[in-house]
Amino acid sequence: MAAAEQLTELEVLSRQVAGCTRCRLHEGRTQVVFGNGNPDADLMFVGEAPGFHEDKQGLPFVGQAGKLLDKLLAGIGLTRADVFVCNVLKCRPPGNRDPVPDEKEACEPYLFRQVELIRPKVVATLGNHATKQLSGKETGITRVHGQEQWLKVGSFDVVLYPLYHPAAALYTPAMLTVLEQDFARLPELLGRTIEPVAPVPVLAPVAAEPAVQLGLF
Ligand code: URA
Repeated sequence: MAAAEQLTELEVLSRQVAGCTRCRLHEGRTQVVFGNGNPDADLMFVGEAPGFHEDKQGLPFVGQAGKLLDKLLAGIGLTRADVFVCNVLKCRPPGNRDPVPDEKEACEPYLFRQVELIRPKVVATLGNHATKQLSGKETGITRVHGQEQWLKVGSFDVVLYPLYHPAAALYTPAMLTVLEQDFARLPELLGRTIEPVAPVPVLAPVAAEPAVQLGLF
């Protein structure tokens, strides 16, 4: 897909998500937090859900956890402009509570479509919720962090790379050390050839809605 066309489809998706009322979270949000960064990124981060500051600003990871993410990126020579960052949920759960199953289910097609449009080489999942959502497995982050998994996303291969959530590492030095060690492997993962996997679609593609149906024209 040509870069210009890809950007347009991502914009269309972003406008669609901005008006989403698929679950109860639309009632309490200030705005949808679609995600931001480089739409052509090789590396995509998926967090859990917007918090207080993200909901106010409409941008992902702008609070303390985001500052740590920036620091970790700088440690491997990257900035936010190099990567794409989004969340499993696009709206803030009240009081920052955990996402519940029907909210994750309602938001899942948006996340899968983002992966399909951005086509990153590596999807780094931050914490349990993102890891379970994208791997389709219930194994917790403590067991799978730092271990890459190969997934088929639509018609292309992607490496899923589970990491501890930066918010969890903020107040636990031992976890921060592990997160830094896991982060240090990202350049190697980004540089290496993606191994082909059996053509079993793990992430079901979502049919793009024609722009006309979205009321854009
Ligand atoms: N934590 C998340 O998981 N996502 C954000 O956007 C901010 C904090």
